[in-house]
Amino acid sequence: MTRLAAPEPKLAASDFKLESIDLYITSRCNRRCSYCFLPDTYFDRIQHMTPATVAAIVGWASGAATEITVLGGEPALHPSFASIVCDTAAALLRVRTVTNGSRQFRAALPAVRHALSRVAVSLDAPSADVVDRLRGRGAFADAVATVDELRAAAVPFDLNCTVLADTVDTVPDMLAYAEASGAGRLNMHWFSPVGRGALHAADQSVPAADWRRKVLDVVAAYRPSRQSFTVDCQVAFDFPVPGADRGVCAVRDGTNLQFLPSGAVFACGMLLEDEALAAYRWQDGTLVRRAGDTELARTTSPCEGCPLRPSDGGHRPICIYNRLATV
Ligand SMILES: C[S@@+](CC[C@H](N)C(=O)[O-])C[C@H]1O[C@@H](n2cnc3c(N)ncnc32)[C@H](O)[C@@H]1O
Ligand code: SF4
Ligand code: SF4
Repeated sequence: MTRLAAPEPKLAASDFKLESIDLYITSRCNRRCSYCFLPDTYFDRIQHMTPATVAAIVGWASGAATEITVLGGEPALHPSFASIVCDTAAALLRVRTVTNGSRQFRAALPAVRHALSRVAVSLDAPSADVVDRLRGRGAFADAVATVDELRAAAVPFDLNCTVLADTVDTVPDMLAYAEASGAGRLNMHWFSPVGRGALHAADQSVPAADWRRKVLDVVAAYRPSRQSFTVDCQVAFDFPVPGADRGVCAVRDGTNLQFLPSGAVFACGMLLEDEALAAYRWQDGTLVRRAGDTELARTTSPCEGCPLRPSDGGHRPICIYNRLATV
């Protein structure tokens, strides 16, 4: 007699500890940044999340998450970007988006400016040469033009800066630039060498000792002259600084979900290059847990620090969601 496989358990948003969820609404992008954590296979298979799927996920998350982050790819390249943002805001959730500052984002801005609670514009260094080398020609000008339009439209915005070996010496200038730009916050990411980054920028990870000296110490010593400006920086390694907690893991803790256009749902971005490793799947209007060798199996307790990243010079890696925040 053939045995039927047991049905996969359906999960409610209340089974997690979510404040915010990430919706990768499209795999289309106008850029191919050398260090992007998404793999080429993600971009090769052009996929958009349908507005109906977005609405279903938003309905599922309402009551648990209070914020939806809309990204991609480049989110404004989704043909329904404006209506997705406006409909999600109408569902009483805060809507944040992350953009490379594309022309298409600026074109959509008049339609979405009242619906967006915040915008993060990615800008990795205060220099056109450096940014265009990492992200392609015109990337710096795009980001700056978008920042100018957001400021003029009084839309709150932040800057996202991925710090690479080639840019780590520009961190002091980047802090000053971000504060002067009118941004509310500078988000500083340690470069994760996965996806395109593993192929095209493998030598660009900032070593632990440099991360401490050239990033964490500089951020900790920075005193903004504007009170409304803060810096939010990944701790990255097990240093004794405020914000470091080696017990944190978003996969084990259930604090983060990233919904991809294919239906794969990850709890952490570190394994995004292989969708077979996603812990969950959005299927038939609900979230189900996947069996097998997923990110959940790879992060089971007891385990301190990040199990997916190697130690560096005796420094143990900790979860990328640990942040050193200035006040
Ligand atoms: C994948 S992008 C999607 C949104 C949009 N295309 C953009 O670039 O802003 C989301 C954020 O991840 C950052 N990012 C990309 N690759 C990264 C990596 N390897 N490590 C850390 N952050 C990365 C980007 O700079 C951006 O701020
Ligand atoms: S970082 Fe953003 S802009 Fe660059 S390739 Fe990745 S998704 Fe596209
Ligand atoms: S970065 Fe490491 S510790 Fe953090 S959620 Fe991912 S696997 Fe867990």
